[in-house]
Amino acid sequence: MKMWDGRFSKSSDRLMEVFNNSLPFDKELIEEDIAGSVAWVNALCRIGIYTSKERDKVIEGLQLILQDYRAGKIEFLDSDEDIHMAVERILVEKIGGAAAKLHTGRSRNDQVITDTRMYTKKVLRSIRDEIVNLQRAIVQRAKSDSDIIVPGYTHLQQAQPVLLSHYWMSFFFIMEREKSRIDHAFESADILSLGAGAIAGSGFDVDRESIAKELGFSNVSMNSMDMVGSRDFLLETLSAISSVGIHLSRYAEDLIIWSSKEFSFVELDDAWSTGSSMMPQKKNPDSLELIRGKCGRFIGNYTRLATTIKGVGHTYFKDFQEDKEPLFDSVYQIGIVLKVFAQVLATLKIGRDAIAADLDPFLLATDFADYLVRKGMPFRSAHKVIGKIVGYCVESELSLKDISLEKLRSYSDLFGEDVKDIFSWKGAISSRTVQGGTGFESVKKQIEFADKILKMD
Ligand code: ARG
Repeated sequence: MKMWDGRFSKSSDRLMEVFNNSLPFDKELIEEDIAGSVAWVNALCRIGIYTSKERDKVIEGLQLILQDYRAGKIEFLDSDEDIHMAVERILVEKIGGAAAKLHTGRSRNDQVITDTRMYTKKVLRSIRDEIVNLQRAIVQRAKSDSDIIVPGYTHLQQAQPVLLSHYWMSFFFIMEREKSRIDHAFESADILSLGAGAIAGSGFDVDRESIAKELGFSNVSMNSMDMVGSRDFLLETLSAISSVGIHLSRYAEDLIIWSSKEFSFVELDDAWSTGSSMMPQKKNPDSLELIRGKCGRFIGNYTRLATTIKGVGHTYFKDFQEDKEPLFDSVYQIGIVLKVFAQVLATLKIGRDAIAADLDPFLLATDFADYLVRKGMPFRSAHKVIGKIVGYCVESELSLKDISLEKLRSYSDLFGEDVKDIFSWKGAISSRTVQGGTGFESVKKQIEFADKILKMD
């Protein structure tokens, strides 16, 4: 027996029933479905479809279903097509008569999108909270590593010295932008669709503003056809999650490389590493590898939904039932990924000695060129002069700081005694006072700015 089988002369094929069934995954929406139904009963009562007595009975029944579900006492049937049908069936069984009026003026088309919008808002809030937690762990790292100077890399070649905390803060700022992508997806989800009916708008003039208020929506949809066919907020959600995943993956990649024996810049805590079943010496950064690996799912889930949606004409088609699994999967996984990354950072050990040993004076070549510029040489010429000196060092296997002043003066007579001041890591950092640079003051400002933001979150 189906709630819609009045016009059918035989029942669905068993395989069709299994194929059509979304309950195994959309039961995730039960809380939202019940909240939506409570708001709907209230709205129907306000226009006289329900008496207040009946309304109370329905609401009590709905709340009982949720309680039973949480207690693991609900038995779903194979014939329950989806969570919406299941709740209605159970309600009829529990309270009889009054339940049969619940679907008045409502369609599963506006019901499912209402539930999904509510769920999406809820999970976006918690993803945002997890990003903030990660940001706190990042800022904590930046504070405790504030005196460590590391080689900064471009093309994975040593480029210029930077503060390790400058590196950590770069992670903070990209996460700040991820938060605004999450907020934007939230805004797109924050529209009430209940009342849109199947396509044309409900046949009953319910007060949608009150429903929106009750369900916590800031906006009420203006066009019913737009609403029942709207899955753009899901695309935005999956895109925002992919963006978070992509950037976490990049930082995971850095730390994986830095944790190798060759670098030894960082060491993961045992609690966030695993061993090898064969090689006893191995300690693998699996937590970070999984963070990088999970990113495939996030992009995959976005692509999966985009591909599903793109061929669907206006308004609702059953294709849309395929929107939920990619959503649930990405939401579940990004939650874990963010939690794990925060823990990896909080427990990370920094290999101060290995970092210090790896700082090569060639990292100061740009500062060397800047020295000549300050003495009056145009930068292009200075670049050439220092390039020649570097070439000479490489050829004669000398370090940049081992060249005598006399030799330096053979390249340019602008070199003076003060050139030895260049060979100070702290000096190189201090010279980058420009806003956003790696100078001590600049990084301090970044951290103060971050503290302010996090206090408000
Ligand atoms: N389970 C369906 C979904 O997830 C609910 C909506 C069904 N609507 C319909 N007209 N068959 O999309």
